[in-house]
Amino acid sequence: MSSHFLFVVCQVGSEATVKSEVARKHSEFRFSFSRRGFLTFRIPDDVARDRKFELNCAFARTWGFSLGKAIGTDGWQLARDFWQSFVERYPVEVLAQFKHLHVWQRDRFVPGDSEFEPGISPLAEGIGELILEHQPEVGTTWSLTLNEDASVDDRVLDCVIVEPNEWWFGWHRANSVETCWPGGVPDVNVPENMISRAYLKIEEALRWSELPVQAGDRFVEIGSSPGGSCQALLDRGCLVTGIDPAEIDPLLLSHPNFTHLRSRAKKVERNDFQSFRWLAMDANVAPKYTLDTVEAIVTQPNVRIEGLLLTLKLTDLALAAELPLFHKRIRSWGYRRVRARQLAFNRQEVYVVATDR
Ligand SMILES: C[S@@+](CC[C@H](N)C(=O)[O-])C[C@H]1O[C@@H](n2cnc3c(N)ncnc32)[C@H](O)[C@@H]1O
Repeated sequence: MSSHFLFVVCQVGSEATVKSEVARKHSEFRFSFSRRGFLTFRIPDDVARDRKFELNCAFARTWGFSLGKAIGTDGWQLARDFWQSFVERYPVEVLAQFKHLHVWQRDRFVPGDSEFEPGISPLAEGIGELILEHQPEVGTTWSLTLNEDASVDDRVLDCVIVEPNEWWFGWHRANSVETCWPGGVPDVNVPENMISRAYLKIEEALRWSELPVQAGDRFVEIGSSPGGSCQALLDRGCLVTGIDPAEIDPLLLSHPNFTHLRSRAKKVERNDFQSFRWLAMDANVAPKYTLDTVEAIVTQPNVRIEGLLLTLKLTDLALAAELPLFHKRIRSWGYRRVRARQLAFNRQEVYVVATDR
């Protein structure tokens, strides 16, 4: 029996979805432990040795190889336990190859509830500093950064604060955009006058997807009221059209690069979509309605939308099992690369990005 474990961090409430996704994609993994927003799985030895292993689960915010946990009320002792768990497994020259320390707390609420947003809490930052103070001697200069974004291929030490007195230890290789971010959450600078949380979602989606969205690009969003995502796109210098029967924040209405089409998407002339390079849809409707609406637009011969960013509301989490079907449908419109992720700033929804038409 393997003694290797993987930890997975997710949105609170998505644990069962992560479990079934992992069972579907990695049938050899065995579920071991879970708390809200945090799970572990026993994994085969060869997975633990695979430098290129990727979890590829849409509902996993981030993941790493788990070295277990320590429980206690003495922070100094827990920090020493953290290092002990590495020192007893890895020679110092291996340890010295780690460039980053990521320390974060598991989510306490669904993002957006009780004014909670995922990210590095003051408690996690303080614990990170405590761990750094106890960094062992490795006989060579070894500088670790705390909670900074890693670069692809960097090795990262992880400490997940599951409870203030229960710390889980692990590590990962940053092999994708989201595993470069501490706790799988991007550090988004929001403006003081942020119109809605959708600002955070689209910023995260753009960074995660690495779509080549540039200043001057024409971007249309269906379901744009009150206007947070359009605000983020305007901040990036895009020329933005928002389609929504509801009111848009006056801040956007007075912006020279913003146009509001006050209508439902289906009432907008199909030809009006010809000039757009990117299309986002963030309407509070069932996934089927979103896909029907977008299909009717992008399958028009004169419409050449290069990339789609779609919020699929999971009115029922069981809809997560249909993601492969949604992907297949989007690919049938000519988008060869379709990816889904429950973004850190999503609520009960996933973000789907389609490109490569
Ligand atoms: C979650 S809000 C969108 C938030 C928005 N993206 C922002 O940045 O603030 C959902 C919006 O979808 C709009 N909506 C629902 N069905 C629609 C449709 N068929 N066409 C256009 N907008 C629609 C609603 O009026 C509502 O304002």
